[in-house]
Amino acid sequence: MDFNLTDEQQMLRETVRQFAENELKPKAEHYDRTHEFPMEHVKKLREMGIMGIVYPEEYNGAGMDYVSYAIAVEEVSRGDASTGVIVSAHNSLCLSPIYYFGSEQQKKTYLSRLTTGEWIGCFGITEPEAGSDAGGTKTTAVLKNGSWVLNGTKNFITNGGVSQIAVVTAVTDKGIGHKGLSFFIIEKGTPGFSVGKTEDKLGICASSTTELVFDNCAIPEGNMLGKRGDGFKIAMHTLDGGRVGIAAQAVGIAQAALDTAVVYAKDRNQFGKPIADFQAIQWMIADMATEIEASRLLVYKAASLIGTAERQRYSKFAAMAKLFASETSHRVTHKAIQILGGYGYVKDYPVERFYRDARVTEIYEGTSEIQRLVIASNVLREY
Ligand code: CAA
Repeated sequence: MDFNLTDEQQMLRETVRQFAENELKPKAEHYDRTHEFPMEHVKKLREMGIMGIVYPEEYNGAGMDYVSYAIAVEEVSRGDASTGVIVSAHNSLCLSPIYYFGSEQQKKTYLSRLTTGEWIGCFGITEPEAGSDAGGTKTTAVLKNGSWVLNGTKNFITNGGVSQIAVVTAVTDKGIGHKGLSFFIIEKGTPGFSVGKTEDKLGICASSTTELVFDNCAIPEGNMLGKRGDGFKIAMHTLDGGRVGIAAQAVGIAQAALDTAVVYAKDRNQFGKPIADFQAIQWMIADMATEIEASRLLVYKAASLIGTAERQRYSKFAAMAKLFASETSHRVTHKAIQILGGYGYVKDYPVERFYRDARVTEIYEGTSEIQRLVIASNVLREY
């Protein structure tokens, strides 16, 4: 077992960290306040190869490993959590199912333009009545004259308003539960496909979160991804990878909160000395640093299993990483506000934003309750 990063991973961390420090961090407050989508950030991440980081060079990807992916998402999120989820949802949720389940033709047509970031992608399984119960999908797809005709609404879709490509689940065979779901690729501009309501969120305010509406939307028969009836399993496989991305995002947010709290604690004087000299503050800093490091190791462990044959271990570790890192991010950002006191509660410092941004990591791509369910069912099977 080697706990050291490779030279390539280390170099990537330094490059993305510099980028985040110089370009993301100074503008994060602006994008949080205006709710504008940070397209300038995405353009630069394209140039760095981050929008297709793990996909093979034959599909224009950067061909790096999944630990590198986790490092990139963490460092981007340390600079700006909204940009972190844009990168994570694009790579893990849209590109991954096309790469793992798409035909050669689908990979050439779609993946090769998504990996360069020329196109941004999104993933739609959530619906007004199908959240944690991902199999409760109501959107339908009916085969008519050589086209799949989709009807229904997806909601809470990250990158929804800016994507050229959406991958979504729909019911193709009613009455057989999750076995009746299939997966489809839909291009922006297809008649009957539109973006609905844009959500006004507590945190990650610069990321686009919208509804996707399908109203007699006809797509070519060949736009089914994988086999008819495999939609639920493709969605679950995809979410395993997505959860590692969100866990990495949570680590990045927590690290940014610790960075700010430590600098503040060394600088802020009360009772005649820096507050960092008080044990009450030191214990908080010790807990924050320890939990962040433990989260990071879980993220690396889960990332190292992506794409391997160990599907069940990977599902379990992805859920563990997401659960622990997101709850750590909540605790760490809470403590960062406590250390800054009144200054932590106002917008002059970024920790109130970190707290708001961290909260959703316990919700999207499966709530903490769902992660516990996945972990428990895997552990129970092991005995
Ligand atoms: N990979 C592949 N197949 C899987 C799998 C996985 N990780 N997990 C389960 N399956 C398979 C099972 O083997 C089973 O197959 P069979 O029918 O052949 O036996 C089938 O799928 C059904 O499995 P379950 O009985 O376990 O399914 P369930 O209905 O009980 O649901 C669940 C399980 C864990 C609760 C699941 O519904 C779930 O993960 N829910 C949460 C959904 C979620 O994370 N939503 C977030 C939306 S995405 C998002 O937030 C978007 C964004 O933009 C950020």
